[in-house]
Formats: sequence, structure tokens, C-alpha cells
Amino acid sequence: MTRIGTLASGRGSNFNALVAAWKRGSIPGAEFVVLVSDQPGAGALDVARGFGVEAVTLPPRDFPSREAHEDAVIAALRDRKIDLVCLAGYMRILSPKFIAAFPGRILNIHPALLPSFPGLHAQKQAVEYGVKVSGATVHFVDAGCDTGPVIVQAAVPVLDGDTEETLGTRILKEEHRIYPEAVRMFCQGRLKISGRHVRITPE
Ligand code: GRF
Repeated sequence: MTRIGTLASGRGSNFNALVAAWKRGSIPGAEFVVLVSDQPGAGALDVARGFGVEAVTLPPRDFPSREAHEDAVIAALRDRKIDLVCLAGYMRILSPKFIAAFPGRILNIHPALLPSFPGLHAQKQAVEYGVKVSGATVHFVDAGCDTGPVIVQAAVPVLDGDTEETLGTRILKEEHRIYPEAVRMFCQGRLKISGRHVRITPE
């Protein structure tokens, strides 16, 4: 059984897609144990409660330092014996200490075809740059910003007249498809990291 902890700061549509896929049996061997948010008002907390997944709020202002806050997040995950950490719109950069606490066991979803448009507002970056194709990426998290080994990508055309919102909506649909797929493969033990490459064992 892979015990999964999800970190989210916002509305939680990716978390919703993950738990919905799990509930319908598409992520065998998984258990979504806890959702941790740094934002007390995050929609993701309501999504968790709606599915009966434990929801934990850890606002940074309750802690004396960035490190103390992150230590509390690590402790919350360790206390629940979490095997896999899924970032789903978690708006904080993880320190090397956090990454070392869950080596090869942290996934993230990014709304662009990495390594293009890392960081914030990836959809806006793509529209402004004028690319014809963007998309979504699920990757392992390393110490950089959106730089870890790529697991799955989906391409999405950028159409004339697209805005950050219209492109973002089309990309989000693909995010909700590929994130559960990546978590499913992780839980099946089918992902092997080899340098920058992720080898996927056939089912
Ligand atoms: C998504 O666009 C995801 O790719 C990015 O943050 C956003 C989170 O959206 N990392 P949601 O909270 O899952 O709806």
C-alpha cells in the first residue's frame, strides 16, 4: 500500500482528480491519507473533507520561521507514515531538507511542457511567448524549481486569441488526466529514475 500525502494551497482541482480516480479504482494500491494546506481558506481542504480524507491546515504565520513551518509539514507527513508526497498547486518551494526526507517520493504537476515556462504563471508565459503548443508535465521533484525528471507530459495546442484563462482551462483538463496516471504508475512500482530519465515499466 502506498500512503499518499498531498500538499495544496489553492482550489484543489488536481487533488480532486486524484482522489476521484482513486475512489473509482484507477489507482490500485494507493491510499490518500492526508491533505495538508498552508492556506486556511484553500478549496483543497473542502475537497478533502468531501471525500473523507483528513484535512490539515498549517499556516506559516503560526510558526517562528520558514524552517519551523516546513518541519511541521514534514512531521505531519511522517506521523502518518506517508510514502508518496503529491504536490498539487502547493505554492511554496521545498527546501533540500524536505526533498531529502522523501527521496524520489515527491511528485508535482506543472501547467507547461517543461523545461519551457517553469515557475509561476506558466500559461501566461506560454501565451505571451507565442508558442503554438504548450501542455502539462508531471515530474519528480528535485531541489530546483520545476527541474526534476519528467514522468508524463501532454501537449495542448495554443490557439489564436487564447488568453491565460482559455489556455489554462484546456491545460487543466490534461492535468486532471495525466496526474492520476502518473500516481497510478508510481503506486504500481513502474517508475524507475535513471539520471534525468524516468523509465516506465509496461503494465
Ligand atoms: C495547476 O495549474 C497546477 O498545474 C499548478 O497549480 C495549479 C493548481 O490548481 N501546479 P488546482 O488547485 O489543482 O486546481
